[in-house]
Amino acid sequence: MTMGRMQLAYLVLEVRRPDRWRQFADTVFGPTEPAVNPDGSIGLRFDPAAQRLVLTEGRSDDLAAIGLELADDAALDDVTARLAAAGIPTTPGDGALCRARRLQRLVACVDPAGNRVELAVGLERVATPAAPAFPAGFRTGEGLGIGHVVLAKGALATMEAFYCGPLGFRVTERIDAPLGPTRLRGTFLHCNPRHHSIALFEFPTRKRMHHFMLQANDVADVGLAHGRALRAKIPMSLGIGQHPAPDGTISFYGQTPSGFDFEIGAGGREIEPAGWREQPIDLARGWGHRPTARLKLRVARDTLAARLGL
Ligand SMILES: [Fe+2]
Repeated sequence: MTMGRMQLAYLVLEVRRPDRWRQFADTVFGPTEPAVNPDGSIGLRFDPAAQRLVLTEGRSDDLAAIGLELADDAALDDVTARLAAAGIPTTPGDGALCRARRLQRLVACVDPAGNRVELAVGLERVATPAAPAFPAGFRTGEGLGIGHVVLAKGALATMEAFYCGPLGFRVTERIDAPLGPTRLRGTFLHCNPRHHSIALFEFPTRKRMHHFMLQANDVADVGLAHGRALRAKIPMSLGIGQHPAPDGTISFYGQTPSGFDFEIGAGGREIEPAGWREQPIDLARGWGHRPTARLKLRVARDTLAARLGL
């Protein structure tokens, strides 16, 4: 059983304008010493891992793959066998793909919403420091991986069955609440002590990915990033606020050059996966995260588009 030993290791993003993304990442995340991989993709670093965000040029401006890292080959064989038993096809990554992703071994599958999931072993670690704009660094160690990714396509029950079935995630919390002109239904999933590494939303949006989150070690660095984003006129979505306990992350949200959102936070509390019992989210225990006029407009537009079936 791989429970507690899997982590969200990287995200592959297909972006129309890698140049704009480089500029955006430099502004918000700080210099990340981007490296160009053998396949032409650009790897952005935030910690000792060789890359955490992989930018590939393309038209979709959306998530291209979710990278989940497992402890070793035996763990990867285990998940691959469970996927096969569930009738889900898998494809081993060849040498060229492993070199581009800078890891030892990879097996890919596709989730019910069409998101590519890469199960990986041995993501390269490098010694030099990254992201000096976050002096206290990012909270990625001890097998926690990077923050989280929120997927917004696919039926909640089907997506949950996939991630909690063969992939071994467990439900942390659920949300079902009115949000502006629409309703947010969602499930927060953990695969290690991080409160959630993947969340599933039923929420009108044009992108597969609603947002991704990076977790800093120090809330002061979140404030500095917020200041840099404001000065650079990065479009903001939710102002600084705190998610309700037990998560407790203090964060803000803005829009990436691809149209989906990013979140930068700190102070999120870990959970004890053994014996964890799922619970509903109590929104009254959070504060802030005030939506901007721009976000309200986007949600209204996407809600209308979803109702009209566009
Ligand atoms: Fe988030």
